[in-house]
Amino acid sequence: MKKQDIVAKTEQYVMTKMLADSTGHDWQHVQRVRNLAIMLGEIENADLFIVEMAALLHDLDDYKITNNLSGQLTLATYWLNEVQIDISTSKQITNIISQMSYKGAEVDTKMDSLEGCVVQDADRLDAIGAIGIARTFMYGGAKGRQLYNAQDKPLLHKTFQQYQTNTSSTINHFYEKLLLLKDRMNTKAAKQIAEKRHRFMIEFLTQFHNEWEASN
Ligand code: NI
Repeated sequence: MKKQDIVAKTEQYVMTKMLADSTGHDWQHVQRVRNLAIMLGEIENADLFIVEMAALLHDLDDYKITNNLSGQLTLATYWLNEVQIDISTSKQITNIISQMSYKGAEVDTKMDSLEGCVVQDADRLDAIGAIGIARTFMYGGAKGRQLYNAQDKPLLHKTFQQYQTNTSSTINHFYEKLLLLKDRMNTKAAKQIAEKRHRFMIEFLTQFHNEWEASN
C-alpha cells in the first residue's frame, strides 16, 4: 500500500473510533495534533510519515479514554498490522506512542527519536492555551471532578500510578501538569508557541482566583 493510502485509511479508522469521545480526546484533538506535528516535523526535518501516523494513533489506547491502565497498545498495534506496515516502522511508531504520555510532575518522560519529540510537542501544545483550558474542563466534567476546592492543594506526582489515580480538582490540574509543559517542550518552535499559550493560562488563572476570592 502507498504511504498516502495508509494515512487516508488510518484517518478513517481513528475518526470512527474517536468521534464520540467527550473527554477532550476526540477526533478534532487528533486532527489538531496531526497538523501541529506535521508543521513542527517540517521545521525539524523529521520523517513525516512516522510523525503523521504516530499523531493519528497516539490516543487510541490511552488510559484516559480506554480506562485500561496496562499501557498496552492493543488498537494501534492491531491497526499497524492491518495496513501492513513493516515491523521496523511499526516499532518506531508504537515506541513514540508509549513514550509520549505525561506521567506526573516529577516523572521524567524522555523521547528517544526526533519524530517522537515532534509528536509529543504537538500533543502538549494542544493541552495548553485557550484550547488546553477548554479541554481541561471538558475532561474534568467527563470524569466528575470538582471545579475547584481551595482546601485541596495541588500535588506534584512522583509516580505515574499516583498521577493516574489522582482525583483532585480541575483547577489543580493546571498546577500539576499544564503550567509545567512549556518547560518540557523538545523543539525550539514548540517552545515559542508554548510561551504565548502559557501566558494566556496564567491570565485565566489570575482572573479565576480573583473572582473566586471576591465571592467568598
Ligand atoms: Ni493526545
